[in-house]
Amino acid sequence: REKPGEESRTETLRWAAKFFHQTLQGSEGKTASVYLGTERGLSEKTIRSFGLGYAPESWEHLFNAAKRSAIPQEHLVDLGLITHNKQRNSWYDTFRNRVIFPVFSVGGQVVGFGGRTLGNDPHAPKYLNSPESALFEKSKLLYGLHAAKNEIRRMESAILVEGYMDVLALHQAGITNAVASCGTSLTRYQAKILQRYTRRVLFIYDADPAGLKSMITGIETLLAEGITPFVVMLPSGDDPDSFIRREGREKFLQFTEAEKLQFLEFQIRFFSESGDFEQPEEKSRSIRSMVHTIALIPDRIQQELYLQELAEKLSISHSALLELLGKQLEAEG
Ligand code: GTP
Ligand code: MN
Ligand code: MN
Ligand code: MN
Ligand code: MN
Repeated sequence: REKPGEESRTETLRWAAKFFHQTLQGSEGKTASVYLGTERGLSEKTIRSFGLGYAPESWEHLFNAAKRSAIPQEHLVDLGLITHNKQRNSWYDTFRNRVIFPVFSVGGQVVGFGGRTLGNDPHAPKYLNSPESALFEKSKLLYGLHAAKNEIRRMESAILVEGYMDVLALHQAGITNAVASCGTSLTRYQAKILQRYTRRVLFIYDADPAGLKSMITGIETLLAEGITPFVVMLPSGDDPDSFIRREGREKFLQFTEAEKLQFLEFQIRFFSESGDFEQPEEKSRSIRSMVHTIALIPDRIQQELYLQELAEKLSISHSALLELLGKQLEAEG
């Protein structure tokens, strides 16, 4: 299935992952490993099983090591591990002073890297990822899936979070059906991948405006693939990692069990808390938006059941909603 040249690229990725990991374990990785252990609470075991690494401050740490290991420069260029400086016509390491998160394919092969900065340059992005390529298409990857897939099948449910650290915190706490969309919006392709493993997905995105908005749109993406979404809204300002780290595993499990909302309940709560049910115009707009969401469900019987639920919860006549649904389905062809 690999295209020509991909096999050796894969080998170079494996080499780089090992190199970053060894750097984290060595003397140059001291600060990073203290950061991961003390500040972020990651165990040796988690660091090892997810192959975390470190890219030091240096401009040509990886570049020089690659030369010593006879890794073709062309591979480093293709994989975005080194970047060209036009003015000086020279190459430098793309990842510098960053904790490295290797990203794995479902089968467990390294396909690229995410790097979190340890520096305090306000202009540097917090996370830097390998550039897009045939091997590394971020919109088609779910971080942690290689480690979560069996548990997702067993539990018949997946937990979907935003970031690398959230996946690590959950897996470390023994909640191993968690994967991340890495970036805030869930793509159609990612939903299709999830659908191969389960029909139930629990969103636990960051409890900030961006996270909430991404859950609203992510719900539509999942529904369109025949998945039933559930949502947990964490206390304001938290993400799964910060919650678990502060409150522990048991509190996290209790909280998510008690606060879990089916997607329609979540939308009603979201609109009512944003004050969108106060005036008839706003209420009408919110209802239209929820009917639009329901219209995305491929199963007609389910559509009907959710419509009934909406009618009951909002004291609207079922026939009015049905008419609206009909119009929306027609409009969307
Ligand atoms: P910590 O601050 O280390 O706890 O990370 P986080 O995962 O909580 O970060 P955040 O909630 O800001 O972002 C969620 C995910 O989006 C990250 O894990 C990354 O995958 C991605 N992301 C965040 N910031 C950036 C960025 O500046 N660039 C890119 N490409 N991705 C980002
Ligand atoms: Mn976030
Ligand atoms: Mn829409
Ligand atoms: Mn976060
Ligand atoms: Mn975080």
